[in-house]
Amino acid sequence: MSFQIPRGTQDILPGEVEKWQFVENTARELCNRYQYKEIRTPIFEHTELFARGVGESTDIVQKEMYTFQDRKGRSMTLRPEGTASTVRSFVEKKLYANSSQPTKLYYIGPMFRYERPQTGRFRQFVQFGIEALGSNDPAIDAEVISLAMSLYQTLGLKSLKLVINSLGDADSRTAHRTALISHFEPRIGEFCSDCQKRLEQNPLRILDCKKDRDHELMKTAPSILEYLNDGSKSYFNKVQQYLSANGIPYEVDPGLVRGLDYYNHTAFEIMSNAEGFGAITTLCGGGRYNGLAQEIGGPETPGIGFALSIERLLAALDAENVTLPISSDIDCYIVTMGDQAKDRAVSLLYEMRNAGLKAEKDYEDKKMKAQFKSADRHQAKFVAVLGDDELEKNVIAVKNMETGVQEDIAIDQLISYLKAYSKRMLL
Ligand code: HAM
Repeated sequence: MSFQIPRGTQDILPGEVEKWQFVENTARELCNRYQYKEIRTPIFEHTELFARGVGESTDIVQKEMYTFQDRKGRSMTLRPEGTASTVRSFVEKKLYANSSQPTKLYYIGPMFRYERPQTGRFRQFVQFGIEALGSNDPAIDAEVISLAMSLYQTLGLKSLKLVINSLGDADSRTAHRTALISHFEPRIGEFCSDCQKRLEQNPLRILDCKKDRDHELMKTAPSILEYLNDGSKSYFNKVQQYLSANGIPYEVDPGLVRGLDYYNHTAFEIMSNAEGFGAITTLCGGGRYNGLAQEIGGPETPGIGFALSIERLLAALDAENVTLPISSDIDCYIVTMGDQAKDRAVSLLYEMRNAGLKAEKDYEDKKMKAQFKSADRHQAKFVAVLGDDELEKNVIAVKNMETGVQEDIAIDQLISYLKAYSKRMLL
């Protein structure tokens, strides 16, 4: 019997995993600069959290959740996204009581959605996301968007498009909702069954329907921007002013509604314009969700954040032919000749690694020539050759693989010799 990986998931093997580590480290470093701190929440939560948090009318809750009963019959769900869990933790752990607000958090971890797998769409994918809770300052909206743009740009992406919109405050949304209902209701019979349900639940979601996107009523639907009240308008203007001040180009798209129910005010997506990127061009999505903490039983707290998947980020890097500066070389490979040398290499290797050097040796009893080949495969900067004869004299032959220069040194000098070299290279 043989097993295959589940559809929509992937094994990330050595050779590929270094790219993930590089991206994750870059994201962590960036969060540190912006003072976002890491939060780790469980992979599964009570289903009700996502039903309420993400929203009953969303595709995620209706069709895409991995929901199961635990042994006590409780309904649990593998997290489809990170915002609901982060806000749940913020409320439950009373992070709002900390004197310093906003609470700025980030996460990197797997999310699960039962979607139709295709290029850029997985059933298990890794999101890097940030959430800033407790501030209603449009500067924080601009900060969140800037951090996302900065990650992509730091990694070398150029073909990016930032699209923003405002969904307004509760009053603006209510006015827009009424307008949408009157617009679609007379002809809702011509729309798909999902849209018919959406008319009552959340008519905004009709604008995001893939099946009915070419219906003539879609083009003439009332734009949210016409329903923004003065407060919402000036908030949105301020966000745009800050983005411009940061030199970040953007487009306003009143059709951008996002696929989750919790948004109000600022909503944004970052797309890849790279040729050959594939049908799904959205790299990152986010927005403001001022009612979410309250919705899940917490105090009224404004919040804004984004999430992006590492899968799509790496695909965008591929599409733009960006190679990440990943080095897989090692400091030293020990080649041995003779049994005593082989034994001595075991402890020598241990000492080298303890001293912080990347070092390796052969474990397959290979001939010398094959050991040198292994050293090449490991991209060893130095090869240290230890034979029984050398061992007797307490010396080891060290060869700089770049210059070809070889010299004999005392075995107990090997580590300081290699370290001195690394130090010189860093200068
Ligand atoms: P979302 O738009 O559902 O928003 O997902 C955000 C990002 O996750 C997408 O832009 C995409 O990069 C990635 N993504 C989503 N589904 C998949 C998939 N099946 N395969 C690969 N990548 C995927 C959220 O999740 C919100 N929680 C974002 C947010 C945070 N809003 C405020 N704070």
